[in-house]
Amino acid sequence: MAYQTLTVEIDDYVALIRLNRPEALNALNSELLTELGSAMEEAERNEKVRCIVLTGSEKAFAAGADIKEMSTKSYGEVFTSDLFGAEIAKILRTRKPIIAAVSGYCLGGGCELAMACDFIICTDTAKFGQPEINLGVIPGIGGSQRLTRFIGKSKAMDMILTGRFMDSAEAERSGLVSRVVPAPKLIPEVLAIAKKISEKSILSVMVAKECVNRAYETTLSEGILFERRSFAALFATEDQKEGMAAFLEKRQPQFRDK
Ligand code: CAA
Repeated sequence: MAYQTLTVEIDDYVALIRLNRPEALNALNSELLTELGSAMEEAERNEKVRCIVLTGSEKAFAAGADIKEMSTKSYGEVFTSDLFGAEIAKILRTRKPIIAAVSGYCLGGGCELAMACDFIICTDTAKFGQPEINLGVIPGIGGSQRLTRFIGKSKAMDMILTGRFMDSAEAERSGLVSRVVPAPKLIPEVLAIAKKISEKSILSVMVAKECVNRAYETTLSEGILFERRSFAALFATEDQKEGMAAFLEKRQPQFRDK
């Protein structure tokens, strides 16, 4: 499918989705988020995709929700349309892993979009922030909740109340990103990581993603019970037999997603 605000390339079982509104530093408007929701659903359905990489440009992953589009909305319009709620829900429903590859500005709704992915890898030029306070609002796509879980209350309050930006070193130190790479290497390095994930059994990949996400939604004992049941269930798969046999036979496993 052709999109106006993003591009999708699929190669070697990895879908690379690139936000493409350079004139607005990839600000998230309703067209872009609707297209992104559709691209995620397509990637989820496509058997040629086993891992998804979401990226922007060198200058900006995304500089936030589109201020021009939002500026004249009334309370009633934002409330009844549940602004961006349905679109973000499509991303969160994706069961295949999604890596956010961030370069440059990753602000407001852009930071919230990156945090809705499974993990974030950024360049040394990346700048993260939730500057909505400067516009007389607050984060609106989960930032107050997800940022707090990523980096803790003190830093989240600091970021959200002052609107300041965080550089890549602080983002890595705080646990917001998993790795920092030099800017020119971002896409090759993230694609290599995605490729590595795509070679695993998709059954254990999807179960692992569900288990880690469960840690955010439930108590420790319920989460551990969920993990134990999921772990046991994987022993019903051919891929578990193949994975362990391959280890013992000192060869690479041939997973068949069964
Ligand atoms: N919405 C709409 N347009 C945006 C935008 C946004 N969030 N961010 C940047 N742009 C546009 C600018 O208006 C500008 O367009 P024009 O050339 O037509 O004027 C173009 O992108 C380039 O931006 P700048 O000239 O400002 O570039 P810069 O390098 O000087 O500054 C920046 C970069 C610091 C990121 C600055 O653009 C900026 O502060 N952007 C807004 C960041 C922000 O407040 N984000 C939060 C949005 S609200 C939100 O996201 C709510 C939510 O949680 C749902």
